[in-house]
Amino acid sequence: MTTDLEKNHLERVESLLDSMSLEEKAGQLSQYFYLQVPGQDKFLEAELRAGRVGSFLFVTDPTKINSLQRIAVEETRLGIPLLFGFDVIHGFRTIFPVPLGMAASWDPKLYEQVQATAAREARAVGIHWAFAPMLDIARDPRWGRIVEGAGEDPYLGARMAEAQVRGFQGETLGSAGHIIAGPKHYVGYGAALGGRDYDEVNLSESELRNVYLPPFAAGVAAGAGNIMTSYVGIGGVPGAADRRLITEVLRGELGFKGFVVSDAASVVDLVTHGFARDERDAAVRALSAGLDMEMWLGLQFGAGANPGPKQGAFATLPAAVEAGELDEKQLNEAVRRILLLKIQLGLFEQPYVDLDGIQTTFGDPAHRETARVAAERSAVLLRNEGNKLPLDRTKLRSIAVIGPLADNKMATLGPWVFAQGLGATVTVLDGLKNAAGDNLKIEFASGIPLPSRAIPSPFAGMAEALGSTAPGVSTDDFDEVEEFKRAVELARSSEVAVVVLGETDDMNGESASRSTLDLPGRQLELLEAVAATGTPVVLVLIGGRPLDLRRASQLTSAILLGWHPGSEGGNALARLLFGDAVPGGKLPVSWPRSVGQVPVIYSRLNSHQPHTASKRYWEEESTPLYPFGFGLTYGQVEYSNLTLNSTNIGLNETVTASVEVHNPSGKQIEEVVQLYIHQRYGRAARPVRELKGFERITLAPGEKRTLSFEIPSSARRYWSATEQNYVLDETTFDVWVGGSSAADLHAEFTVKEG
Ligand code: NOJ
Repeated sequence: MTTDLEKNHLERVESLLDSMSLEEKAGQLSQYFYLQVPGQDKFLEAELRAGRVGSFLFVTDPTKINSLQRIAVEETRLGIPLLFGFDVIHGFRTIFPVPLGMAASWDPKLYEQVQATAAREARAVGIHWAFAPMLDIARDPRWGRIVEGAGEDPYLGARMAEAQVRGFQGETLGSAGHIIAGPKHYVGYGAALGGRDYDEVNLSESELRNVYLPPFAAGVAAGAGNIMTSYVGIGGVPGAADRRLITEVLRGELGFKGFVVSDAASVVDLVTHGFARDERDAAVRALSAGLDMEMWLGLQFGAGANPGPKQGAFATLPAAVEAGELDEKQLNEAVRRILLLKIQLGLFEQPYVDLDGIQTTFGDPAHRETARVAAERSAVLLRNEGNKLPLDRTKLRSIAVIGPLADNKMATLGPWVFAQGLGATVTVLDGLKNAAGDNLKIEFASGIPLPSRAIPSPFAGMAEALGSTAPGVSTDDFDEVEEFKRAVELARSSEVAVVVLGETDDMNGESASRSTLDLPGRQLELLEAVAATGTPVVLVLIGGRPLDLRRASQLTSAILLGWHPGSEGGNALARLLFGDAVPGGKLPVSWPRSVGQVPVIYSRLNSHQPHTASKRYWEEESTPLYPFGFGLTYGQVEYSNLTLNSTNIGLNETVTASVEVHNPSGKQIEEVVQLYIHQRYGRAARPVRELKGFERITLAPGEKRTLSFEIPSSARRYWSATEQNYVLDETTFDVWVGGSSAADLHAEFTVKEG
């Protein structure tokens, strides 16, 4: 049913559309990066005045946003306001843990709050739209962008997807203090061959629908206003021009109502792929596939050091219509979607941002508090031999803090951060000092210089291009031999060594794939030397992907995975180390032993000789070092009495599983209770385990609680290659509940027609 308001919006869209020239229509579909590159700004402002720009990305200065908006509103023929988009990935001014870390919290409510906070800060400067959440399932830790998503599992991915969409957007499109969410990259980008960014993707329909699509379905169901296509193509059809995936699956099957944007330059890229003949062909085929907006750099692509300004491929759309290559009706459809959104956002009534409110929003202490809680809840305790953690502040007199990442702000923040509020970042060293109190000496030695990429990141200059000052990281101008010795001596003379190692911010994210999972640089050598002193070692791991920890885990009593924990990261990790907060995060990815095992997926399929599955390599176990869903807490947790309300059900019925969870220890614990199922036989072989429910709980000492999980028919539905369709099988299911994908508490039920 259409409400009066919706009717009014649609009428406004039609009356605007009637007055638009072909060029103005194509303009609404053209989005440009606005960067501080000489020549580009003047070119883009002229394009804007002529009505040939509908949206900008990468403008974060509110004064600039207002001045560009003023051109759109006051100096263009129709006065249609601009839409401003940005990569609000894990915070805007306040930085939260990277998305893979947020997924490790297994706390969708918290993730919703985090993205609502990010939205509030971004909206305060005039940004209307986040290029987030990234919903790509990622099963290859070599892929740098694994850090940007929720990991390997479609169910966890879907829960985190809907939470983020709700957080960004609020109640409805246009809610005050909120922005549009743009789930990306539709679809299958995470399956790039060899984990190499932008590489080719070959997905079966079954993998596509059972694994890669569910997070997008959840994001769409939660009301996402936008979807971004991916750089890659499945089966040789690039994402930006895949009519089946955009129009039939996304809009037709999933019911997506918003607008679809390309990834940066990926319409022009249709030519690069060897798919489109030229840019006009590319524009026509992308638009005909259902893509609404082209994201374009505004610069000559691949033109070397001094690229001149250049229009996008969509600038050729008017000529294509005039030449009869494209039906104007098709163009109108896309323009309608953009205009409707601008109306829904209230941009015609209030195009400008209120500069006075910004500092109040940025200064809200609740934002920092949310960042600290998020970092605490995303950390995963991977190892805690002899309960070395938490450290007892009342007894310890000295802690050596060692390692190049212990006091590095950018590494604490992670990728997709462009120097917003960098000064306010709390490193692990800062956090330990803040929490130590007067009687505990905290001393620091870097030991080795900051590790760096052998091949520099193509985005190295991005912060400057945004007009931000370059991040003020320490320059490590020390004598390397002396510094290494100093670190080892410091460890020897201290009661505990907290060694902070891992990856820098530019070692993961876009264009940051790796061919090994080693700790970069001389970090393992440093760890060996520190461990050889005999001082107990606690490893704090910073980064955004699983690394090879086989040796590191032998050298350390405890490993706390902090990810890139964000602005309050150091305070959060210090609170966990001292036991002021309790770790309870769980891995959203299986953690391989070595790079050669990749991909390691808990939800694998059985095949010949399943009992040898863990011995498929002869050098080492083919099991992961740490399974999916794994993470320790301080204290213990016990599971018992897994019961089902019925063990024989009809195809469309729901089973409810109940389980008792007990904390027998004298400490408060955090646990993520997880439910997995397995279909024993049917019209396709199904994964040995699939996550179908979870709940994060806190249990007081001695507390026992009963939890219930529903297993509805939708949780048993899957896409079968036999039927080339979704099916529900008559079969038997195994059920496990526990604290990881290795849970062994078991029950079973049978499903029959009728
Ligand atoms: C390219 C990336 O693939 C995408 O995730 C991002 O949103 C755009 N660039 C804009 O920065």
